[in-house]
Amino acid sequence: MDIKHRTWLMISFLFMCLSLEFHVSSGADTISANQSLSGDQTILSAGGAFRFGFFKPGNSSNYYIGMWYDKISLQTIVWVANREKPVSDKYSSVLRISDGNLVLFDESKVPVWSTNITSTTTSSLEAILLDEGNLVLRELSGNSSTSLWESFDHPAHTWIPGMKMRLDKRTKVSQRLISWKNVEDPAPGLFSLELDPNGSNSYFILWNGSQSHRYWSSGPWNENQKLFDDVPEMTQNYIYDFSFFSNETESYFTYSVKNTSTIISRFYMDVTGQIKQANWLDSTKSWFLFWSQPRQQCEVYDYCGAFGRCSEQTQKSCDCLQGFQRKSEHDWSLQDYSGGCERKTQLQCQNNSAANGKSDKFLTNSNMALPENPQSVAVRSVDECETTCLKNCSCTAYAYEDSQCSIWSGNLLGVQQGASDGKTLYIKLAASEFSSPKSKRGTVIGVVVGSVALVVLLGLVVFLYLRRRKKTIKTTKAVEGS
Ligand SMILES: *[C@@H]1O[C@H](CO)[C@@H](O)[C@H](O)[C@H]1NC(C)=O
Ligand SMILES: *[C@@H]1O[C@H](CO)[C@@H](O)[C@H](O)[C@H]1NC(C)=O
Ligand SMILES: *[C@@H]1O[C@H](CO)[C@@H](O)[C@H](O)[C@H]1NC(C)=O
Ligand SMILES: *[C@@H]1O[C@H](CO)[C@@H](O)[C@H](O)[C@H]1NC(C)=O
Ligand SMILES: *[C@@H]1O[C@H](CO)[C@@H](O)[C@H](O)[C@H]1NC(C)=O
Ligand SMILES: *[C@@H]1O[C@H](CO)[C@@H](O)[C@H](O)[C@H]1NC(C)=O
Ligand SMILES: *[C@@H]1O[C@H](CO)[C@@H](O)[C@H](O)[C@H]1NC(C)=O
Ligand SMILES: *[C@@H]1O[C@H](CO)[C@@H](O)[C@H](O)[C@H]1NC(C)=O
Ligand SMILES: *[C@@H]1O[C@H](CO)[C@@H](O)[C@H](O)[C@H]1NC(C)=O
Ligand SMILES: *[C@@H]1O[C@H](CO)[C@@H](O)[C@H](O)[C@H]1NC(C)=O
Repeated sequence: MDIKHRTWLMISFLFMCLSLEFHVSSGADTISANQSLSGDQTILSAGGAFRFGFFKPGNSSNYYIGMWYDKISLQTIVWVANREKPVSDKYSSVLRISDGNLVLFDESKVPVWSTNITSTTTSSLEAILLDEGNLVLRELSGNSSTSLWESFDHPAHTWIPGMKMRLDKRTKVSQRLISWKNVEDPAPGLFSLELDPNGSNSYFILWNGSQSHRYWSSGPWNENQKLFDDVPEMTQNYIYDFSFFSNETESYFTYSVKNTSTIISRFYMDVTGQIKQANWLDSTKSWFLFWSQPRQQCEVYDYCGAFGRCSEQTQKSCDCLQGFQRKSEHDWSLQDYSGGCERKTQLQCQNNSAANGKSDKFLTNSNMALPENPQSVAVRSVDECETTCLKNCSCTAYAYEDSQCSIWSGNLLGVQQGASDGKTLYIKLAASEFSSPKSKRGTVIGVVVGSVALVVLLGLVVFLYLRRRKKTIKTTKAVEGS
């Protein structure tokens, strides 16, 4: 068995060497017009900083084509081509140059991603992975080459040194750094970073690409101090160089690392809705979080979804308001809380045949930051405020502060627990939700009674068994004795 084990080890070692050789032999930094990339094949940038090929994020069953650091043991994706269109089999999918573009064909030979440029060139093309982490499609003529398309112009969620996050002032369109949908899905999520399209030289973080749902701003670039006004911690130092460029047609911010052989650094728009900067620490083989904004998780717009509750005090930032449950357990487990929560029990007022004596009630939630979009109602007392909400079926909650009545209709967004100047929010729930503690106690009693009964029953069985056995033994003895 030992020998068998050793043989197996040797075979797998040999196999590893073989597959290693395969990688190295295909480890060029270019895909030329007559080549293709498929399965485990990858290309490696000339200095060995970045690798490009198929990858599978986490436990996902989907494959994507993208780029990651080669010198880092923890696979960290910096760019993804087919963010929204994964392939299911990397061996029958092919990336190659086709009709003047770099195109990914899926297992059915259907193009799912393309550099999508219209070029009229007839000369030879190649795709090259540069050591700064830029994939370039270029045209070769003689010994010179012209870039036709660059991954640096099509950012995914990561902003690496040398990349420019641009605003085209003529079209007022900004490039966006967009978060992943969840930790295993690189499809564009809800959070994005971009330069103000109005040209204020500030970066904004937006929710769902909407300027009216902007929840963080860097403040304008300050050319004298070489930093953004609301990011004073971003001072020039011995590690980075930051610069901001602006002329009539475009503006952009870029940064570089002074010594790229010692520092691996990246900015990324995280699934948490925060822009983060992290540096690789070789000693611990992990990313060290250097900086992140907005600093408080609960400042991220609608982070916990409808009827979710955000808290800075607990390790898990999101949970559901009492009386509500997670809409999608699966999404929540992948850190996508945007689906929020749903009622455990429908409100009575939503039931047309609601004449069963029970009306809806309000649950008192204290120490809360109140939800988005309140509507104020002119009433004279807290009772009148409550009645207003109770009578209107679309009303889901009310608050009464400083003789001001506010009501909310529909989804409750941005509820935060344990806010500094906590307020009291009264949330409408079905009356049956209020008897649940009682039924819980009932269950506990039931369990206790059940256990006691079981013990008694077991005791009885054992007792009867022993008695019978004693009797049997006695009988046997009697027989033996005779
Ligand atoms: C592929 O093309 C390159 C130049 O574009 C050439 O040097 C190479 O020999 C070609 N390889 C094959 C297998 O045709
Ligand atoms: C993948 O699945 C395994 C086992 O089911 C689990 O332990 C692990 O945490 C999962 N990884 C991720 C990234 O979800
Ligand atoms: C290429 O661009 C066109 C229009 O700009 C778009 O309709 C098409 O879906 C794109 N194709 C791919 C494969 O991205
Ligand atoms: C091509 O390379 C040769 C030598 O390597 C050089 O003499 C020539 O000027 C180059 N041509 C162009 C167009 O750069
Ligand atoms: C841009 O400026 C216009 C006019 O001043 C204003 O209406 C608009 O809201 C601004 N947009 C943003 C994104 O700030
Ligand atoms: C995001 O915005 C789009 C329209 O731009 C809308 O269709 C979509 O429902 C929005 N997503 C969410 C989660 O609200
Ligand atoms: C602005 O700068 C870019 C280079 O970053 C250049 O291509 C462009 O022509 C410049 N525009 C003007 C109006 O000078
Ligand atoms: C970068 O760091 C390495 C290792 O510390 C050092 O040998 C090299 O001289 C540095 N390069 C620069 C440009 O400072
Ligand atoms: C509406 O009320 C009726 C009668 O009380 C009940 O049978 C039914 O399940 C209720 N429906 C909902 C959606 O609560
Ligand atoms: C209920 O509240 C909504 C939203 O505040 C309002 O539009 C509607 O008119 C109200 N309905 C009644 C019957 O008051």
